[in-house]
Amino acid sequence: MKQAQKPRTGESFGTLGTVTFPVIGVVGGGQLARMMAPAAVALGFELRVLAEAPDVCAVPVVATAPVGDYKDLETLRSFARGVDVLTFDHEHVPNGHLQALIAEGVNVQPRPDALVNAQDKLVMRAAIERLGLPNPAWAAVSSPAEIAAFGDTHGWPVVLKMPRGGYDGKGVKVLRSAADADAAADWFEAMSPLLVEEMVAFSRELSALVARTPSGEARAWPVAESVQVDGVCDEVIAPAPGLPTEVEAAAEAAALRIANELGVTGVMAAELFETPGRAPGFLINELAMRPHNTGHWTMDGSVTGQFEQHLRAVLDLPLGATSALGSIVVMKNFLGGANQDLFSAYPAALAAEPTAKVHSYGKSVRPGRKIGHVNVIGSPNDDVAAVRARATTAANIIKDGA
Ligand SMILES: Nc1ncnc2c1ncn2[C@@H]1O[C@H](COP(=O)(O)OP(=O)(O)O)[C@@H](O)[C@H]1O
Ligand SMILES: [Mg+2]
Repeated sequence: MKQAQKPRTGESFGTLGTVTFPVIGVVGGGQLARMMAPAAVALGFELRVLAEAPDVCAVPVVATAPVGDYKDLETLRSFARGVDVLTFDHEHVPNGHLQALIAEGVNVQPRPDALVNAQDKLVMRAAIERLGLPNPAWAAVSSPAEIAAFGDTHGWPVVLKMPRGGYDGKGVKVLRSAADADAAADWFEAMSPLLVEEMVAFSRELSALVARTPSGEARAWPVAESVQVDGVCDEVIAPAPGLPTEVEAAAEAAALRIANELGVTGVMAAELFETPGRAPGFLINELAMRPHNTGHWTMDGSVTGQFEQHLRAVLDLPLGATSALGSIVVMKNFLGGANQDLFSAYPAALAAEPTAKVHSYGKSVRPGRKIGHVNVIGSPNDDVAAVRARATTAANIIKDGA
């Protein structure tokens, strides 16, 4: 019998007659896990979520969502027991726990030796250097004096980063002088060494999004432009307008090479700084190994969205085509703003922009919190500004109220 050759653990939900579907376990119940659910439903997979708390936003959309601490090995172990593959909504699961689970036979994707490059920016910088890919000037520093020495060599300002645990600009600080370096002394109490980087004079930020399977199939989406406001992704335009074809090709090749050489599985975003006049035209900022905010445009704007691709990749299925469905696709985030009752603004937002595809994360509204995004696919005659304006109009109506 077919299923006897390939036993599955999620028999209760995953077995339909003689056909057995896989169970995917996601550690973390934020919006990324939530947005994997429709893709899982479409393909007939079961998605389970290890939730941080009963009220995180993926819980209402999956049937099985135990609440537990992802830093606790026993909790991870019992969650992993029922799943065919374990993957992630965030990068904060202790690497050693994942190694322990693998030793016990759990199928963890991406594997911890790849994931560490998204967990630790110092490890990532060293890996990029080893691969001969473009890094900003950087150093591991253990004291304000070492930051000052770096700034004196490479020029001020410099950017100081917590290597672990940062997100949305938390854990990133611009230092203008040696005095600022002294004032940052408290950061060393939280973590040491820290990462210091040159302050890159980039023209804009880009994102090279790829997916790779354990068997080694890999695909890249068109490189997108990402607009960051106060360290938080605000808008993404794909493909990146006016990006020279050789820079696009080199950025895509770099992301695929990173994925291959580091053994990444699932979706990976390489955040890039565009640096015209400084070969090869970009520097690598950081890596994320999961679906990424800069890839939300693919949900409506690409043949295969990043959430579907992530599930296919971690299950070692063939990957889907990644071409864009419009000449220009814009994603605009909406963060918590004046409007507490998001749905009350839907009639106005949807009426104002019939091309807008709204994705709401089911989160309570708090200032600055990522609570949803809007995708707009441009028509062939649209210019970039018009498509951006449509996405922004819809997002702002929801954020600020009608
Ligand atoms: N070396 C740098 N030079 C200039 N800007 C930087 C540098 N590093 C980070 N930034 C800015 O800070 C943002 C957040 O930094 P990043 O390392 O991506 O942290 P996070 O993990 O919070 O996303 C970047 O998107 C970019 O806008
Ligand atoms: Mg970043």
